[in-house]
Amino acid sequence: MFDPRSADRRSVLKASAAMTLPLSGTTTAGGVWATTRADDRAIPRKRRRLDAGWRFRRGDAGETGDGRSLIYDARSELPDTEDIDLSLSPVRIEGENQFRLKPWILPAANAFIADPAARHPVPTRQPDIALPFARSDHDDSGWDAVRVPHDWAIAGPFLEEGDVGGMGRLPSWGVGWYRRRLDIPAGDAGKSVFLDIDGAMAYAAVWLNGELVGGWPYGYNGWRLDLTPYVRPGGINQLAIRLANPPESARWYPGGGLYRNVWLVTVDPVHVGHWGTQITTTDVSDRRATVDCTVTIDNDGEEAADAAVATEIFALSRAGARAGNAVARFAPQRIRIAPRSSRTIQGRTTLSEPRLWGPRPEQTPNRYVAVTTVSRGDGAGGIVDRYETPFGIRGIRCEGDSGLSVNGQHIPIRGTNNHHDLGPIGAAFNLDAARRQLETLQEMGCNALRMSHNPPAPELLDLADEMGFLVLDEVFDVWRDKKTPLDFHLIFDDWHEADLRAMIRRDRNHPSVFMWSVGNEVGEQHDGEAGAQIARRLVSIAREEDATRPITSAMNWAKPDMALPPVFDAIGLNYQGIGVRTIPGQFAPFHEKFPDKMIVSTESAAALSSRGQYQFPVPGTVSAAVRPGVGGNPDTHQVSAYELFAADFGSSADKAFSQADQHPFVAGEFVWTGWDYLGEPTPYYSSRSSYFGIIDLAGFSKDRFYLYQSRWRPDLPFVHILPHWSWPGREGEVTPVHAFSSADEAELFVNGVSQGRQERAPYQYRFRWDHVEYKPGTVKVVTYKDGRPWATGSITTAGEPARIEARVNRKLMGNGADDLAFVEAVILDDSGNRVPAASNLLDFAVGGAGELVATANGDPTDFTPFPAPQRRAFAGRALGVVRAVPGAAGAIRVDVAADGLRGGRVSLLARG
Ligand code: GAL
Repeated sequence: MFDPRSADRRSVLKASAAMTLPLSGTTTAGGVWATTRADDRAIPRKRRRLDAGWRFRRGDAGETGDGRSLIYDARSELPDTEDIDLSLSPVRIEGENQFRLKPWILPAANAFIADPAARHPVPTRQPDIALPFARSDHDDSGWDAVRVPHDWAIAGPFLEEGDVGGMGRLPSWGVGWYRRRLDIPAGDAGKSVFLDIDGAMAYAAVWLNGELVGGWPYGYNGWRLDLTPYVRPGGINQLAIRLANPPESARWYPGGGLYRNVWLVTVDPVHVGHWGTQITTTDVSDRRATVDCTVTIDNDGEEAADAAVATEIFALSRAGARAGNAVARFAPQRIRIAPRSSRTIQGRTTLSEPRLWGPRPEQTPNRYVAVTTVSRGDGAGGIVDRYETPFGIRGIRCEGDSGLSVNGQHIPIRGTNNHHDLGPIGAAFNLDAARRQLETLQEMGCNALRMSHNPPAPELLDLADEMGFLVLDEVFDVWRDKKTPLDFHLIFDDWHEADLRAMIRRDRNHPSVFMWSVGNEVGEQHDGEAGAQIARRLVSIAREEDATRPITSAMNWAKPDMALPPVFDAIGLNYQGIGVRTIPGQFAPFHEKFPDKMIVSTESAAALSSRGQYQFPVPGTVSAAVRPGVGGNPDTHQVSAYELFAADFGSSADKAFSQADQHPFVAGEFVWTGWDYLGEPTPYYSSRSSYFGIIDLAGFSKDRFYLYQSRWRPDLPFVHILPHWSWPGREGEVTPVHAFSSADEAELFVNGVSQGRQERAPYQYRFRWDHVEYKPGTVKVVTYKDGRPWATGSITTAGEPARIEARVNRKLMGNGADDLAFVEAVILDDSGNRVPAASNLLDFAVGGAGELVATANGDPTDFTPFPAPQRRAFAGRALGVVRAVPGAAGAIRVDVAADGLRGGRVSLLARG
C-alpha cells in the first residue's frame, strides 16, 4: 500500500510549495507586452464537473483495518456529550486504538495562513492505516450509484422520536464514503491537477489511488486539493472521499455528503492561482470608474518560469454571455516566477460610461467579466491559461445617519435571512430550486440576502449578482464558545483563519456582496475584552483579504458600552434593535454611541406561523409570543397564521416595521427568515422544520408574504385578506378579518354589509376588524390610497373538495439531472374556490420522459419522506418536484389524483 520511495518525496515537495505559496509580495512588471487577444479556440484550462459516476455508501468497513477508530482528532474532554454517541463523531475523547487524520488534513489550510511560522508541517509519510474503501481496487459495484451534488440524509426516514428536532430529524450524522474514477488522459502528464470541492458535509478526507491527499473539516466552505503528485496520467485514477458528519453539530439541518459541486481542474503548471484574482472598483459614477485588478500566478513547476499576463474586460449580457469586444484592458505584464512559488501583479484601468451593477428594482445588475490570459515565455509560447473573473462595477457607502447607498442612491435593506437547504431537495445544491427561492423573494420585494450563518454555494452568489440582490456574506455561527456540543468551536483555533480567508477569496469579486459578517450571536459577546480580541483578529484577517467592504457581526446581546461592538465597521443587531422581551430597543443607544456606523437589523421579527392555520380567539395586540392557545396549538403543533406571533425574543413584522420607521437612520432589516428551513422547529421541537419562514418549505406564500410585499412594494395595488372564509361550525362566532395592503384606507364588507371603513394610523401596517362574526358567504375589502380607489379583494366560502388544479412553473425544461420543474396542486370546490382546509391525500404520478424527485406541502409536522409520491395536502396545497429521466427527451405528464376528486394534470416538454 504505502510506498515510501514515491509518496514521501512528493509530500515533502508539496510541503515546501505550500510554505512559499500564499500572500507573496506584490510585483508590478513594467514591461509592455502586446495585448493578448481573448482567443476562444484553445481552452488550456479544463474544468470538469464531477457530477455523474459516483458510488456511495454509509459507514466504514473495519475502519483502519487493525481495529483502530479513524478520527479527525481527540480531546481530553468534550463537555456536554454524555448523551451523544461519540462513535459517530470525527472528534472524540482521547482513548486507546484511535488513529488521527488531523496531521494530514491541516496542511490544506496553509495556503490561507498568513504567518509562515503558523503553517502546518506536512507529514513526510502516508498514514499507516489500511482502509479498504480508499484502495484503488476495492469493489464498489454494490454501492449506490449517485450523482453529486448529493445529500445523503434528505430521503429520510424522519426520526420521529428523540431530541433531534433541531437538526431536522433527518439522519445526517455519521460516516459516508464516495468513490469515483477520474479520467486523466496520458496527454495531461506534466499538468497540474486539482480537485475543487464547493462544500462537503463534513470533515472530508480525500484519497487518490490509495494515498491520502488531504481534506477540509468545515462543511460549508469551498476548498482545493492538489492531486498532481498522486495522479497517474493515462492510468487508473481512483478517488475516494470519506466524510464524517458529527451529531449535535448544528442548530439546523446541515445535510450530509458531497452536497455541492465537485470539479476537476487540469491546467498548465504556470496558471492563475486558486481564487487568484481580485477586482475592486473605485471612483464609480456613470461617467467613469477605476478598476483595479490583482492576479496571482502560480508556478507549480520545478524550474523558474517566464510568463506574460494580460487581462481584458468584457461586458456580460443579462444571461451572463460575453457581449462584444473588450471594453478595457490592463497593461500586460511580464514576470519571472521562481520554481514552486507564486507572484502577484497589479493593474489599474479606467472605464468610461460603465454600466453599473445595482440592486433591483431601483437599479440594474449589469456585469462584466475580466478575462486573464497567461502565456509562457515572452508570449510566443502560446496561451497556457485563461481564467475568467465575473465582477460588477458599483460604489457602496455605509453611513451612520443615512444607511446604505449604492451608486449614490439610498437603498433601504429589505432583506431576508436564508439557510442553505432547499426544502424537499435538502442541502444538495440545485440551481433551479435556488432560483425559485430567489424569484419568490424578489416578487415579495426582497432586495437583500443574509447567508445565515455560513458561506453559501458559489452559484447562489452568481444568482444574486445576476438577479440584483445585495448579499451579507457570513462565515461562522460560532467562534470558540460552542452552541452545540460538536459544532465548529472544536476546530475554531485551527481553522478560523483558513475558513475566513477562503470564503473571502472565493466571494470577494461578487458585486452582490456588500458586507462581510464574521459571526452570528457568538458566545464571545459575553466575554468582554477576551471576546473582542478574537473579533479584532477576525476583522483584521477579513480586512487583509478585502479592504473595500465593511465588516460586521450579528449581535443579539452585546450593548453599546461593551467591548465587542466597537470592533466592527457596521453594527449588526439581531432583535435587540427592536427590543427583546422587556429590554427596550437598542437602535437609539447604538446610534448615539456609534453615530458614524451603519446600523442594520441582521435579524428581525422571528415571527412564526403555519400556512393557512388560524387560531381563535385572536389577541388584540400587535405582537405576541406563542403560548398554548395564544397563537400556538399544542395538539396540532401548528402556529396561527394571523401573523401576530413570534418567538419569545422576537416580534411580529408589524412591530419590526414600526421600530424601523421610528428610527430612520437604521439601514434596514434581514427578516428571520425568508423561506422555512429544515430543523430549528421553534416552538415545537417534535416537528422537523421551521415555522419562521415568510414562505413555507414547499414554496407557498404564507399570509405574511403579503404583509412584507405591501411594505416593500408600496406601488403594487393589492389587498390580501385573512383568514380564509370557510368555517363550518363557527357561525356567529367572532372571527377577526385582517387585510394587508399599502392602501391608506380600507372598508370591509361581509356579504355586502359594511363592517366599517378604516384609516391607517401612523405605525400601523395592517387593517383589522377584530369583532366580525362569521357568516358563510363573501368577505370583501375595498381599499383607497390618497383618496382614490386602490385595490379590491374578496374571499368566498368554499364548498366540498371537488377537483385538483395543477400548475407548473415552466412548460419547457432541459433534460439534465439538475433541471427541475415545480408542480403546484391546489384543491378546489365545484365553483373553483380554493378549499382552504383540504387535506386530501394526493398522488403525484409522472409519466413520459419525466420522473418525480420529491413532494412537499409546507407542514412542519409531516413525517412522510420527501421522495414519497403520495402527500397529504396541507391547507389545500401540495408540491411535486419533477425532472426529466436522465437523458430522455419529450413530453412529461404529471397527474395529481386523490380519492373522490377530479384529478389535475400538467404537461411540459423536456428538451435534450
Ligand atoms: C437567532 C439565531 C438564528 C435563529 C433565530 C431563530 O437567535 O441567530 O440562527 O436561531 O434566532 O431562532
